[in-house]
Amino acid sequence: MSAEIARRDFLKAAAAGAAGIAAASVFGGASAFAEDQARVFEGKKKFAGIGSIREVTEDILYVGASDRRIQLFENVYPIPRGVAYNSYVLLDEKTVLFDTVDRSVTGQFFENLTAVLDGRELDYLVVDHMEPDHSSAISEVLVRWPNATVVCTKAAALILNQFFACDISDRSILVDEGDTLNVGRHTLTFVMAPMVHWPEVMMTYDDVSGALFCADAFGSFGALNGNLFADEVDFEKDWLPDARRYYCNIVGKYGPQVQDVLSKAASVDIRILCPTHGPVWRENLGWILEKYSLWSSYTPEEKAVMVVYGSVYGGTESAANALAAQISQKGIADVAVYDVSKTHVSELIAEAFRCSHIVLAAITYNMGIFTPMKNFLLDLEAHNLQNRVFAIVENGSWSPASGRQMKEIVSRLSGCSIVGDTVTIRSSPDSGDSDALIALADAVAASVTDESAVPEAAEAAAGKKWVCKICGYVYEGDAVPEDYVCPICGAGPDAFEEA
Ligand code: FEO
Repeated sequence: MSAEIARRDFLKAAAAGAAGIAAASVFGGASAFAEDQARVFEGKKKFAGIGSIREVTEDILYVGASDRRIQLFENVYPIPRGVAYNSYVLLDEKTVLFDTVDRSVTGQFFENLTAVLDGRELDYLVVDHMEPDHSSAISEVLVRWPNATVVCTKAAALILNQFFACDISDRSILVDEGDTLNVGRHTLTFVMAPMVHWPEVMMTYDDVSGALFCADAFGSFGALNGNLFADEVDFEKDWLPDARRYYCNIVGKYGPQVQDVLSKAASVDIRILCPTHGPVWRENLGWILEKYSLWSSYTPEEKAVMVVYGSVYGGTESAANALAAQISQKGIADVAVYDVSKTHVSELIAEAFRCSHIVLAAITYNMGIFTPMKNFLLDLEAHNLQNRVFAIVENGSWSPASGRQMKEIVSRLSGCSIVGDTVTIRSSPDSGDSDALIALADAVAASVTDESAVPEAAEAAAGKKWVCKICGYVYEGDAVPEDYVCPICGAGPDAFEEA
């Protein structure tokens, strides 16, 4: 292909967006194009100095970047502290890049990567996770370093082609569980981690440093501010809420799959956790592993009560406040009250994963549950929350129905129970409701202090899982239906085996 044609392809692809640019050029076989682009990128070297690079070890370097402009992660989750897209380079006899970044931060990323490689070839690009917040720069990496080989799962190669029309069949190594790649002093081992958080996910273990490049696992919302390591910040105070919110909302549904990876990790000497978001862990790994063990087994992190209310004219709010005060009066210190209409549902989901007890107080609306409360409960169900104790307060001016309907949803949550009697408010609480609210507060408080009230983790995640042998997709259910087709690779039920 001539440079002229390649340039035309570039312009054509540009009209379709940046992601298509490299796809149209690299995979049109455009070495002349690459040369042209190399001259363009040469100009970028005007600041090819230190970049915003951090050393993870003597030969593993952080080349990721943070986005502080973004409002909504995945166009859903508010992230006022921004987010980091982590990428790492290993400099050995061969050079290896672990994942790329979101398209919002490619400028900083390429500045970093160019500085770290310092004129060396990029030999391998390991794709642990294909979601575009980590893969948007793959096509451009392959343009800039035309000799780089992609190392990924078969499912990742499929999804890469789906997103970016990027056919890597002639420059890839497709790996599976336990496969290894020697790059000089270091040998990399690939560990499959389907559904943590997509089906194509794998993790990569480096035998020299003990680093596990763990994709979204152990990640967090929050931009990095120069500090890279969790031990360089007050993680529990400043990062844990966002790490919890990230896990519960992004990966929370896939607790059994996270448990699988944690059991694999238990037999490996992991000394560093290199996630694709948030700080890197090199100290006190047991602390964050314990959090993951609790979250992924749907075990409450704290003996605590969250009171969530949905109120229009203040009656239900008043009842919720009274109930919270009475629960606290009984000696339960960790009580938190939320207006379901105001608090973002991702915060509520995270709190539900933290707390052992959840009080739901909602008005009746259109003969059902107040819409924001219903959305919250359906989101809890979608995230597979289990093993909690609930209490119910309903309000209805003429035909209260929210209590029964909230109970129905709670009854579908595995290992969850309801304590006390439903309190029914008519429009606004009056003195006649006091005894019922106090009785419910007594029941909740007694349940919090009762060690046997909340089911243990072992009861969680009891459902069967079936793994597609071709692409790693996990089907959850008692049996794979006869007419089932794998949504990733199109395989039939015969391709699935029980995990
Ligand atoms: Fe950070 Fe699942 O991507």
